[in-house]
Amino acid sequence: MIAELQNVTKAYRAAPGAPEQRVLAGLNLSIAAGETLSISGSSGCGKSTVLNLLGTLDEPDSGSVKLFGQAVPYGDEGALSELRANQLGFIFQLHHLLPQCSALENVLIPTLGGAVRPDQAKALERAHRLLARVGLGAHLDKRPAQLSGGERQRVAVVRALIREPGLLLADEPTGALDAASASSLIDLLLELNAEEGTTLVLVTHDPALAARMARRYRLVDGLLSQS
Ligand SMILES: Nc1ncnc2c1ncn2[C@@H]1O[C@H](COP(=O)(O)OP(=O)(O)O)[C@@H](O)[C@H]1O
Ligand SMILES: [Mg+2]
Repeated sequence: MIAELQNVTKAYRAAPGAPEQRVLAGLNLSIAAGETLSISGSSGCGKSTVLNLLGTLDEPDSGSVKLFGQAVPYGDEGALSELRANQLGFIFQLHHLLPQCSALENVLIPTLGGAVRPDQAKALERAHRLLARVGLGAHLDKRPAQLSGGERQRVAVVRALIREPGLLLADEPTGALDAASASSLIDLLLELNAEEGTTLVLVTHDPALAARMARRYRLVDGLLSQS
């Protein structure tokens, strides 16, 4: 399994001393290599919380999170950041591209840090190939402000994939796009899943987009059910 959540609970307090609000209530989820799955549910039901747990950005109150067959090394910031850099790709609703950098530079940023730095010549070759693959071959030198919303999200997708992650986590990646751009971004994510074998977890509240994933889940009352 690429990822396994077992009996995971998570609760938050809105403020110190405020009553605890349970978000995840003993949730189980197993994700196999190469699959595509969606998580839907009403706003505030805990979708991002699940994705953040899969991305090691958050720790459960109880239960276990395993990634790539290993328990997540909470508390070891070095090991966590290596895991995120080498194995996890993130795409969010907002692209979070650096405004002063070109599309090509934005894509290469994840390859510049870390203890195990990827070969720069290979990273550059991959960046060129993937940017061309997503239709941005003629826009390498444009800054985010010079690109459309859909084009910016395509740059964000390439940035997420540049280090060949095993698991791609997309949190409402189409939330700021019009319907046509949203649909073509999902086309692209599915094509890249097939070409690169990257496991894809898509959080979306759009049933038409969710329906395009091989497995679909709904998050209700802190638990997932297949739909
Ligand atoms: N860091 C946090 N501190 C306090 N409450 C939080 C925190 N993160 C999330 N929550 C609360 O947990 C619930 C689930 O949040 P989230 O996972 O972001 O939902 P979704 O992504 O489904 O909209 C919400 O009620 C939210 O306010
Ligand atoms: Mg969310």
